[in-house]
Amino acid sequence: MKPCLNPSRRAFLGMSAALAVGTLLAPSRARAVDGVAARRTVIIDTDPGQDDAIAILLALGAQDRLDVRALTAVAGNVPLALTERNARIVRDWAGRTDTLPVYAGCPRPLTRELITAANVHGRSGLEGVVLHEPRAPLAVQHAVPYLVNALSHAAPHSVTLCAIGPLTNIASALIEAPQCRRGLREIVLMGGAFFERGNITPAAEFNVYVDPQAADVVLSSGVPIVVLPRDVALKAPITPARLASLRALGNRCGAIVADIMAAELAYNKKRRGVDEAPMYDPTAVGYLVDPSMFNGRQVNVVVETTGQWTLGETVVDWDGRSGRSCNAIWINDVDADRFYASLAEHIATLP
Ligand code: BDR
Ligand code: CA
Repeated sequence: MKPCLNPSRRAFLGMSAALAVGTLLAPSRARAVDGVAARRTVIIDTDPGQDDAIAILLALGAQDRLDVRALTAVAGNVPLALTERNARIVRDWAGRTDTLPVYAGCPRPLTRELITAANVHGRSGLEGVVLHEPRAPLAVQHAVPYLVNALSHAAPHSVTLCAIGPLTNIASALIEAPQCRRGLREIVLMGGAFFERGNITPAAEFNVYVDPQAADVVLSSGVPIVVLPRDVALKAPITPARLASLRALGNRCGAIVADIMAAELAYNKKRRGVDEAPMYDPTAVGYLVDPSMFNGRQVNVVVETTGQWTLGETVVDWDGRSGRSCNAIWINDVDADRFYASLAEHIATLP
């Protein structure tokens, strides 16, 4: 990989042709440049989680763009026994009980004890919605051997991993079978913060903080990586008006997404006194659905794995001062109105 020389001189729009990723181009031009219409093969690694549930529904509603092959669950927002259960509930909501396998993966981070966000997402992990007993069991295999096998046998550079929880499952697969990198087209992940501060500590965003060692493995892997950080989540906030547009769809999944958004708004009102909430994981899926809604820069990003006060901080070399090689595209802008229009359009296709 070439060193990122003078990235600050790269205007965002000038970057698009070289990187072949989304930029804030007019949609028709973006399609021509980026091949946005091509359908991606996707595995979603997730810790549902309220926003994970919305992200999964968005992906399943975007069948024109995404061929979602499996959900792999990881411990994060709540313990694994709940995240894998919630993943199976979400697939039921989308009418995919029999056609979308759910694999349970790692119950704790690589080296640390699990920290959850049950105070945010509720004890079930899906505060705000009524949960039923999942209609079908887990796939028998553990998520890590599933990933190793699926990626090792995939056509070269054909599979996109969408990672919206701590990166434990993915790092474990990369450690166990480095050759499985060949099957990966890219890893598109929600995690990290740079222009905004952390949400679990002053320095760190939750997904990276829960398993910084795993994030380090992934970011050092050499796989093409796109990061949707907290910076972007705050630029596309959930608002009462945006919630109302999902409610107005009139279908079951629209109501579920609206109910989850309402719970997120209520939490933020209570905690921060504001009428909006960050939109996290769905931005990673939104990027896959249509990268032309997003804007970013190719950078070097490293994770603080030992800091006393900064554990889990993502250090982004935005201006190319370090001389370190680029290892990721760091997204820092989104056309929020287009994102919400796309979310509603795709949720509308679900039951
Ligand atoms: C991330 O942390 C989790 O609580 C959310 O599901 C999201 O993946 C945001 O920091
Ligand atoms: Ca998540």
